[in-house]
Amino acid sequence: MNTLGSGLKIIGSGTAIADQSLTNQDLSNIVETSDEWIQSRTGMRQRYICSANENLASLGVKAGQKALAMAGLQPDDLDLIILATSTPDDLFGSAAQIQGGLGATRAFAFDVTAACSGFVVGLNVAAQFLRTGVYQRVLLVGGDVLSRWVDWSDRTTCVLFGDGAGAVVLQRQAQDNLLAFEMYTDGSGNGCLNLPYQAVPQPLTAGKTVAQGTYQPITMNGREVYRFAVAKVPEIIEKVLFKAELTTADLDWVILHQANQRIMDAVGDRLAIPLEKMISNVGNYGNTSAASIPLALDQAVREGKIKEGDLIALAGFGAGLTWAASVVRW
Ligand code: UT7
Repeated sequence: MNTLGSGLKIIGSGTAIADQSLTNQDLSNIVETSDEWIQSRTGMRQRYICSANENLASLGVKAGQKALAMAGLQPDDLDLIILATSTPDDLFGSAAQIQGGLGATRAFAFDVTAACSGFVVGLNVAAQFLRTGVYQRVLLVGGDVLSRWVDWSDRTTCVLFGDGAGAVVLQRQAQDNLLAFEMYTDGSGNGCLNLPYQAVPQPLTAGKTVAQGTYQPITMNGREVYRFAVAKVPEIIEKVLFKAELTTADLDWVILHQANQRIMDAVGDRLAIPLEKMISNVGNYGNTSAASIPLALDQAVREGKIKEGDLIALAGFGAGLTWAASVVRW
């Protein structure tokens, strides 16, 4: 066992926002919707989307640079980069592009795909490398560019999503500030939320075909996903708190995946957590998938809301279906 101990702490955070804002009014020029419908059903006022000048890797590099600056570290200090995303610029993975863009020459880099649970899953994966002492410093980036995969003629989904990236730097230390985590998958609900590959069989040679098609835009059964989130998120938060020998009263902050203000309100209600402890920025950024939790976290840290020693519950949920939660001390 290395003398540094077998715990970890988040020592820096940063974000990158896509370059174009898209308001509810803009959306009402694209599909039959209204600011009133979107705000009352989701709490969203605007979101940001990438032009052709930006991509997941460019956002990830910017978010990573800001997190490193807050941590007081150089790219070369990193041993590992984990990118949580479902929308890589390259299907072979985009973590390596971020590693190259940062110049983090010592760091191994790989992608984790767990949709809107991705950031919390990435945090729990990173912790395993730090706790075992294999690595000392990890950059975790959560980012998605769902605007490239949305059907812009489908009003039931296109109003919901935005692009962005958030990052945290994790460092090994004696005390473990990741107090507990829980993760679940229910593949029987897989059909509720998909960005599926559609194979088109093509003859290749005598008696053999190849199936080359394309990815299809996002499809979602919004009501089912809503029901799933409101049932499972309170449950997983209670479980993770039980594991950490804490109660909801001990929490200073709760940061849920920013899918919908109504989901956050319902979860807060079920757990009797006061509204002011539920951090939300969904009104400004929409649902940014794997980026939503680090975007909300970084904003709250930079606004001085989250302070050293605060207890925070994080919970992600979405496609898979997957749901994951962690309790961290800041
Ligand atoms: O990040 C992954 C996790 N994703 C989520 O957590 C999403 C979870 N689901 C939700 O947040 C909500 O289900 C939505 C915001 C997606 C939809 O809200 P809802 O209250 O469940 O609406 P609905 O799907 O039940 O639709 C109600 C009505 C429908 O019209 P009818 O059939 O009642 O006549 C829809 O066609 O609203 C209509 N509608 C719209 N109207 C105006 C659906 N989308 C729109 C729209 N503008 N954009």
